[in-house]
Amino acid sequence: MDKKELIEAALGARAFAYSPYSGFSVGAALLTKSGRIYTGCNVESVSFTPTCCAERVAFFKAVSEGERDFVAIAIVGGRTNGSALDICSPCGVCRQVIAEFCGEDFQIILADSSGNSKTYTPSELLPLSFGSRGEVVK
Ligand code: THU
Repeated sequence: MDKKELIEAALGARAFAYSPYSGFSVGAALLTKSGRIYTGCNVESVSFTPTCCAERVAFFKAVSEGERDFVAIAIVGGRTNGSALDICSPCGVCRQVIAEFCGEDFQIILADSSGNSKTYTPSELLPLSFGSRGEVVK
């Protein structure tokens, strides 16, 4: 897996963010086991609740096209008009969606704009999650 390529794809997707209310733009790039990359950006709504994070846009695009097996997601985000991007961490709802579709071999890559990144597993970001059979996922 080419981490740099995935981060570049996330940065590209971030350019399409629709975030006039928060002024915070996020991009995500999700790599499938089939080798495809699905991108996403955050899409906001004036009534707030319909807002969808970049990560979920990427997952839902992929799942809606028949993908179920994932390798990694790269996430980048920060102030829309800011110069540098610090690392952006996925929200709790997106962590739950990651837990739905991904096992511990899945990599969550959080990147800044200086070429630094940190990689996490699903359980590092959502420990003791509720599993599909009611079990505690460790
Ligand atoms: N957001 C994402 O798209 N992903 C994250 O990981 C964190 C937050 C979006 C939601 C909202 O449009 C804006 O960033 C500010 O919270």
